[in-house]
Amino acid sequence: MSADNILIQGGARGLGLALVERLLSDRPEACLFASARAPEQSEGLQRMHKRHGDRLQTLTLDIADANSIRAARETVGRACDRLDLMITCAGLLHDAERDLWPEKRLADIEADHLARSFAVNATGPILMIRHFHDLLIHGERAVIATLSARVGSISDNGLGGWYAYRASKAAQNQLTRTAAIELRRRSAELICVGLHPGTVDTALSEPFQQRVPEAQLQRPDQAATHLLKVIANLTPDDSGRLFDWAGQPINP
Ligand SMILES: NC(=O)c1ccc[n+]([C@@H]2O[C@H](COP(=O)([O-])OP(=O)(O)OC[C@H]3O[C@@H](n4cnc5c(N)ncnc54)[C@H](OP(=O)(O)O)[C@@H]3O)[C@@H](O)[C@H]2O)c1
Repeated sequence: MSADNILIQGGARGLGLALVERLLSDRPEACLFASARAPEQSEGLQRMHKRHGDRLQTLTLDIADANSIRAARETVGRACDRLDLMITCAGLLHDAERDLWPEKRLADIEADHLARSFAVNATGPILMIRHFHDLLIHGERAVIATLSARVGSISDNGLGGWYAYRASKAAQNQLTRTAAIELRRRSAELICVGLHPGTVDTALSEPFQQRVPEAQLQRPDQAATHLLKVIANLTPDDSGRLFDWAGQPINP
C-alpha cells in the first residue's frame, strides 16, 4: 500500500500511539498527522517528534466537539491536499474518575453516560468522515478505518451489559457502513471500514484485563501491526464491513 499522508486521530496514547510509532518506522516516506485533545502533553508524541522530526505533525482535536474537528480539518488542508489513510481511534468505555463505567444492569443506565459515549464512539467518528473524506478522494487507493469493537455487534451479543459502549459502537458500525455506501458512489478507490483490534493492553481495557486469558491480551504494538496488515489487504469490495485484527469479518 502506498500511503503517503496519514492521519491518526487519537494518536497520543494507547493503540493510536502504537499506530503512529509503527507507521513512522515502517514507512519512511510517509508524513503523519497525529491528533489528540492535548498532544503537547503526550510523552509518546514528543519522543516520536524527536526521532522523526517534521514527518510528524500534531493536531489538537476533541472528537466530541464538531468545531474542533472542523478546525483540525482546516489545519490539515493547509498542510496537504490529500490523505491516503485516516484511522479514527477515539473510544470511551469508562472515564478516569470512574463516574462513567460500563453498566451491569438497567438500573445503572444514565442518560448523560449514554450521551457521552455516543459523542465519542459514534457521532465523533462519523463527523471525522464527514469533514475529512474529500481529502481521501483523489482517484488512488485510500482507506478510512474507524476503530470499533466486537461488542458493538448485535448478533454477537450473548452476554448483555455494557449498554452505552455496545450501543454506541453498534451505531458507529451503522454510520460507517452508511458512509461507505455513499462514498463508493464518489470513489471506487476509497475503502471505508470498521476494525476490531482485539483485546489490547491499554487504559481502556486495563480494569477488565483479569478476565482475559494472557494469550489473548495483545500489546499495543502487536495490535497495531495486525491492524495495518488488515488495512493493507483491504479491497474496495470490503468497504462498509467490520473486520477483526486477524482480517476476519464480524457480522453486524
Ligand atoms: N483496548 C482494547 O482492548 C480495545 C478493544 C476493542 C476496541 N477498542 C477500541 O480501540 C480504540 C482505541 O482504544 P485504546 O485501547 O487505545 O484506548 P485508550 O488507550 O483508552 O485511548 C482512548 C483514545 O480515545 C481518545 N479519546 C477519548 N475521548 C476523546 C475525545 N473526546 N476527543 C478525542 N479523542 C478522544 C483518546 O484521546 P486523548 O489522548 O485525546 O484522550 C485516546 O486516543 C477505541 O475506539 C476502543 O473502543 C479497544
